[in-house]
Amino acid sequence: MCGIVGYIGSGLAAPILLDGLKKLEYRGYDSSGIALLEDDRLKVYKKVGKLDALRNELAFRNFYATSGVGHTRWATHGRPSDENAHPHVDCQGRFAVAHNGIIENYLTLREWLISKGHKFRSETDTEVLPHLLEEFYEGDLVETVIQMTKKIEGSYAMVILALDEPNRIVAARQDSPLVVGLGNGENFVASDIPALLCHTRNTYILEDGEIADITAGEVIVTDQYGRLVEKNIFEVKWEASQAEKGGYDHFMLKEIHEQPRALRDTLSGRIDPGESEIVLSEIKMTPEEVKNISKIFITACGTAYHAGLVGKNVIEKLVRLPVEIDIASEFRYRDPLVDESSLVIVVSQSGETADTLAALRESRRRGAKVIAVTNVVDSSIAREADYVLYTWAGPEIAVASTKAYTTQLTCMYLIGLYLAQIRGTVPGTERKAIIRELKKLGDKVSVILNNCAAIDSFVDTYKNAPNAFFIGRGLDQTVAMEGALKLKEISYIHAESYAAGELKHGTLALIVEGVPVIALATQQDLFEKMVSNIKEVKARDATVMAVAMAGIEEIEKVVDHVLHIPNTHPLLAPVLTVVPLQILAYRMAVARGCDVDQPRNLAKSVTVE
Ligand code: AGP
Repeated sequence: MCGIVGYIGSGLAAPILLDGLKKLEYRGYDSSGIALLEDDRLKVYKKVGKLDALRNELAFRNFYATSGVGHTRWATHGRPSDENAHPHVDCQGRFAVAHNGIIENYLTLREWLISKGHKFRSETDTEVLPHLLEEFYEGDLVETVIQMTKKIEGSYAMVILALDEPNRIVAARQDSPLVVGLGNGENFVASDIPALLCHTRNTYILEDGEIADITAGEVIVTDQYGRLVEKNIFEVKWEASQAEKGGYDHFMLKEIHEQPRALRDTLSGRIDPGESEIVLSEIKMTPEEVKNISKIFITACGTAYHAGLVGKNVIEKLVRLPVEIDIASEFRYRDPLVDESSLVIVVSQSGETADTLAALRESRRRGAKVIAVTNVVDSSIAREADYVLYTWAGPEIAVASTKAYTTQLTCMYLIGLYLAQIRGTVPGTERKAIIRELKKLGDKVSVILNNCAAIDSFVDTYKNAPNAFFIGRGLDQTVAMEGALKLKEISYIHAESYAAGELKHGTLALIVEGVPVIALATQQDLFEKMVSNIKEVKARDATVMAVAMAGIEEIEKVVDHVLHIPNTHPLLAPVLTVVPLQILAYRMAVARGCDVDQPRNLAKSVTVE
C-alpha cells in the first residue's frame, strides 16, 4: 500500500516529510516524492526507486518550506516511474495530491477532463484528482474537495497542497486509512501512526467520508457534506515497531485481517455497475482468440500453486475447457503439450519466483499466451507476461502468504467468469449469482475473523502434537493443502493434507488416538461422503476439528470442534474456508514460540531454482 505524509507548522517541512516516509517504508513501495510550497510555487520532487533516490535528488538544495506533502507509491495503475510517482499536480501546478487507494472511475473522469482541455502526464488513476480540483476550484479548497469526492468512486486516502491556500493542507479518507497528528503549533497527517510517533501521540483517526482542514494551529473535521464532526483525541499507546504492524503482534496477523479490504480492492473496477459482467480490460484477447483456446495451463509454486489448484477446478467448471495444473519447478521438464492454442496462467505473489518465471518463458517459447496473476506491479513476471491481472492486496511482508492467496483465488474467479461470458458457457443468471456472492466475500471474511474463538482450545490441546492431518474432498481438498502448508511452514508441526476418500488406501494407518485431524466439509454435494470419512478417523480415536458452512448442524454430532463459515456459492467457499486455517496456523506458531513472520529456512521470494 502507498504511504502518505503531510505537514504544516513552523518547522522545515522537507526533513519532516522524508523522515515520515522513511517510517512508512515497511508498507512496501517502488517510488517516492514530496511537494513543497515555497517562493510562491508548488515544487514537486519525485523519483522511482527507494527513498535514497529522492534524497539524492534533494541533496544540496536549501529548503525552507514549512508545509508540504509526501508519498511512497506501491504501484497499482501505471508502472513504477518518475512520472507515475506521487504527488501529482494539475495543469497549472496549483494543486498537489498524494493518494493511497484506487479511483475506480478514473478512466471516465480522465476522458471528461481531457475533453475539457486538461493535459495528463502519468498513467495513474490518481492524477485525475488534481485536475478535478483545478476544474472545480472557486476559492475554497475544502468546499472544492467536497465537490471532488462526490465525483470519484473507489477508495482513497489523500492529502492536498494548494498554491492559493498556503496556510492549510486538506486530507480526505474513504476506505483507506488516514491519521491526523496533533502537534503544538504544527499538525501532521499520515497513512499510518509510525510516521507520527516521533512528533505526537495525540491523533484524530479519520473515518470514511471525513475531510480534515489542517492549519498550523487547528484541525477542523467535516463529513462529506461539509457538516462539522466532533473528533475525540486518540492517544497512541503503541511503540513505533508495534505501530508498523498496525497494532497487531505480527505482519502475518495484520495481513490476515487485511483480507476483507484486499478482496474488495482486487474486485475494484472489474465488475460492471450492473453486477452482471466481469470487466478485465487488462486481458486484451479478442473474443476469437478466447474462443480458439483449446487448453488452459496453470503453473505456480507453494501457496500460489494451491490457488492455482482452486483455479483449475473453477475454470474447468465455468469455461468447460481442460485445465492442467503444474508445480512450476516440474512444468518445463515434462515437455508439456503447450502450443499457440494454449492459454497459460502463471500465479506469483512476488512476481519474482524463479521456477514460475522459467515456466512463463517456456510457455511463451512454445507459442502460448500467458496471463500473470501477481501482486507486484512491474515485477519480472508482470513484465514478461502477455497480460497481467494484479492482486491489489498491498505488500505482503510475512513469509507465510495469506492475503495474496485469497486475492489470487479472486483473480481465478474473475478469469473463469470472464472467459465463460465470452465463450457463453455459463448462463447469465448463474454468473450474476456468483458475482453477487463474490462481492460479499470481504464482509464474510470479516465475520469469520470475529468468530475464531473455537480455535483456541484446539491450539491449547495440540500445540505440541508432532503431526496433523488436513482432509477434504473436491475444492476442500485443495484448501486442505494450503492449510497444511500454513501450519507446517510457521509452526514446524508436520502437517499433511489428504483427499478424504484416499485415507483408507494407506494413510489411515497413521491415524491413532489423539491425532489431530482438520476436516473441511463445505461442499454440499460431497458432505455425506465427507461425514463417512470423518467417521473413519473418529473410529480410530482421532480428534477432529471441522470447517463447515453455517447451518450444517449435523456435523457437530460427529466431530470434536466445529468452525462454521458463512454460506456462499460452493465455488467461492475456498476464500472463506482458508481463513480459519490461517488463524489456526498463526495461533499454533505463536503458542509454540516460533518466528511467525520469518520462519526458519524460508524466504519471502524464492528467486533461485
Ligand atoms: C507460502 O506461504 C510460501 N511463502 C511460499 O510457498 C510461496 O507461496 C511460494 O514461494 C510462491 O511465492 P510467489 O507467490 O511469490 O511466487
